[in-house]
Amino acid sequence: MLLSESESEYKLSLTHQPKKSTLIKNTSAILVTNLSKYVGEGANKIEILNGLNLQVAQGESLAIVGSSGSGKSTLLALLAGLDVPTSGAVEIGGQPFSALDEDARAAMRGGQMGFVFQSFQLLPTMTALENVMLPMQLANKKDAKQLAIETLEKVGLAERLQHYPKQLSGGEQQRVAIARAFAPQPAILFADEPTGNLDIATGERIIELLFSLNQAANTTLILVTHDVQLAQRCGRTLTLQHGQLSAI
Ligand SMILES: Nc1ncnc2c1ncn2[C@@H]1O[C@H](COP(=O)(O)OP(=O)(O)O)[C@@H](O)[C@H]1O
Ligand SMILES: [Mg+2]
Repeated sequence: MLLSESESEYKLSLTHQPKKSTLIKNTSAILVTNLSKYVGEGANKIEILNGLNLQVAQGESLAIVGSSGSGKSTLLALLAGLDVPTSGAVEIGGQPFSALDEDARAAMRGGQMGFVFQSFQLLPTMTALENVMLPMQLANKKDAKQLAIETLEKVGLAERLQHYPKQLSGGEQQRVAIARAFAPQPAILFADEPTGNLDIATGERIIELLFSLNQAANTTLILVTHDVQLAQRCGRTLTLQHGQLSAI
């Protein structure tokens, strides 16, 4: 399946040392032109995305909604360069992104993007703390441990630093995944159903955290969600339907 391919590529990207991160300078954080993604062949061909266009400004918060199977996770993976389109292009900060090879996409992603997967994708052999530290260590970020501890405290997991993913509940694993994406303070944060496994109070805490990053660091937020409260906090909501985004 597409998502698991993306996820294994993400794991691969974690093992690549980011080369040189290109900082986003332009106002348009993301520009998507005529993006299509088809999978399968012949009678089994599925057109997941079909000529989709999107422009997102730096610092914007965008909610993407749509029914299950409409292609939301596929779109997020393409925006973050975890997968490549069948046709069309994704530009990040005015630079071609989807056309780069896997290593170059991983380097750019490592320097400036955070991604929260619907299925968390924590590394099972690492503790919560090590999972959160890893991307920052790979990016040679100073104070990785301190930042990881602080962020895990912010998501309410101060008591769970040394626990392994299998010792954590679904909601706790989700919060570790959020902390991992959030701690390096990326320029763009992608999150696939970030409040999907959380109780209301924890969900609200995570929403506050996402928007505090958005405001303090002008972080662009691209969120896939079914959570009405979360979508309402975003500056804009777009619906994915029939392979295209629209304002309804
Ligand atoms: N590699 C693949 N092969 C076949 N079908 C796929 C593949 N990847 C995704 N799909 C299908 O594409 C559709 C969109 O999937 P997805 O992006 O996960 O939707 P959403 O996140 O909106 O629920 C689904 O019908 C899914 O089963
Ligand atoms: Mg999905």
